[in-house]
Amino acid sequence: LICRLETVRELSPDQWIDLFGQWQAERDPSILALICERARLTKEKIFGNKVYIRGLIEFTNYCRNDCYYCGLRKSNRETDRYRLDESTILSCCEKGYELGFRTFVLQGGEDPFFTADRLRELIRQIRQRYPDCAITLAVGEHDRSAYQSWFDAGADRYLLRHETANENHYRRLHPEPLSGQNRRECLFHLKEIGYQTGCGIMVGSPGQTAECLADDMVFMKTLNPHMVGIGPFIPQHATPFAGESPGTLEDTLFLLALVRLMLPAVLLPATTALGTIHPEGRELGILGGANVVMPNLSPLNVRKKYLLYDNKICTGDEAAEALSSLKKKMSAIGCEIVMGRGDSPLVI
Ligand code: 5AD
Repeated sequence: LICRLETVRELSPDQWIDLFGQWQAERDPSILALICERARLTKEKIFGNKVYIRGLIEFTNYCRNDCYYCGLRKSNRETDRYRLDESTILSCCEKGYELGFRTFVLQGGEDPFFTADRLRELIRQIRQRYPDCAITLAVGEHDRSAYQSWFDAGADRYLLRHETANENHYRRLHPEPLSGQNRRECLFHLKEIGYQTGCGIMVGSPGQTAECLADDMVFMKTLNPHMVGIGPFIPQHATPFAGESPGTLEDTLFLLALVRLMLPAVLLPATTALGTIHPEGRELGILGGANVVMPNLSPLNVRKKYLLYDNKICTGDEAAEALSSLKKKMSAIGCEIVMGRGDSPLVI
């Protein structure tokens, strides 16, 4: 396994399967420590000790999809649905700007209320008010023409996790009409249009095997994304996966480190899910190769409604208001939060 770590940029699919198989057989803590250390050094060569921050605005929890793992799935009657209006979204941006954020991430379910035109109008407004900020969208699968119109209106980046690059596994996680092929096609469209593009997976989702993870690595190498979002799967009590086991801290750190080693310049967040399964999850992620955190800028009264999974943290240091406490935690591990857009080095 150690030998393979030298060559993660050139591994064949079979070698990846082997690597994950060995990891899953032993889960040797000394191997994990070693790979995290190398991932951190790789990150530091490009980014130094800098950590980028993004202000996350969860603007709608309506969703037309029914993904088996997600608390926002349309069949979940327990979810207290909300959507923010334009002026509320703009005031989240205003608050974020004052706090020092220069990237806003507009994240939401695939909510039909937000038509391509409505969203374009919103993006235009934000772009006009905040010319020095990056606008990141995370609103799922749409036509190429919608993606293009949002890009033209001023959006810069797009997050769309591929969830799994393995077709059978994709089907295990998502009912039709969703398909892995369409998801991957969306990602290539986004990249072609010119977005800084992010894909990603959950670690430890039901049915995820060494083969699935190997497919993910191979896919990510091909897509060569600017960003990769990786967090543990965490069951949500009102979904079909309520009784499944969560992904572990160790497996998630292992994946984060491998992604850093394979794609050295990638923007890699230490996710809220990682912070949810372990009190020091985000710090450990940063020490193992991650270089982005995404504090929550959503209005306080809706934060508890955006429940992708159970026990999601939302009022501690991951909240945008607690930036000074986040700064302290980062400086305690030798890292410095930087204000500014924090664009991908691949485009500048
Ligand atoms: N556990 C962890 N992550 C989840 N997501 C959705 N549901 C869960 C869950 N139960 C992730 C998906 C999605 C992103 C917005 O949140 O990967 O792409």
